[in-house]
Amino acid sequence: MKRHKTIVPLSHDHYDGLLLAQSVKKNFIKTKLGLSSIEDKVKFVINAYNTELIPHFNHEEVILFPLALGKDEELDDMINEILDEHDKIHKAVSRISEGNLEQNLDEFGLLLESHIRKEERILFPKIEEILGDELDILDGQIIAVKDSCGI
Ligand SMILES: [Fe+2]
Ligand SMILES: [Fe+2]
Repeated sequence: MKRHKTIVPLSHDHYDGLLLAQSVKKNFIKTKLGLSSIEDKVKFVINAYNTELIPHFNHEEVILFPLALGKDEELDDMINEILDEHDKIHKAVSRISEGNLEQNLDEFGLLLESHIRKEERILFPKIEEILGDELDILDGQIIAVKDSCGI
């Protein structure tokens, strides 16, 4: 199913997020980010977290989810699960600064990857199904993170 145009920017962010997740996992497939040392990975994650993940989560939590909540019980449960995962991702990033880098980067990568896949494959289609044209109301409100900060 084609993404509704008002949430396409979130899917653009997801593409970058998947690249990040895959690049920091332990058995990582070489991606075009080309991060080779653990130190490079840590630096990249902390920077992407502050400049991309936090604003992206905000777009979801402040703009999209409030519109989607309270319309369908199954969708409400999904959103609560997703919010819980945002929390787990925040915690995984703070653990990276505490050491045990390879293991913590791996856990962060796995969490972020499965989170993004869940949003793309399950949550967003459900939001589109339940909200339909109501999503038009978000026109122009969500801008892809990299577009909005000029990276
Ligand atoms: Fe999310
Ligand atoms: Fe997302």
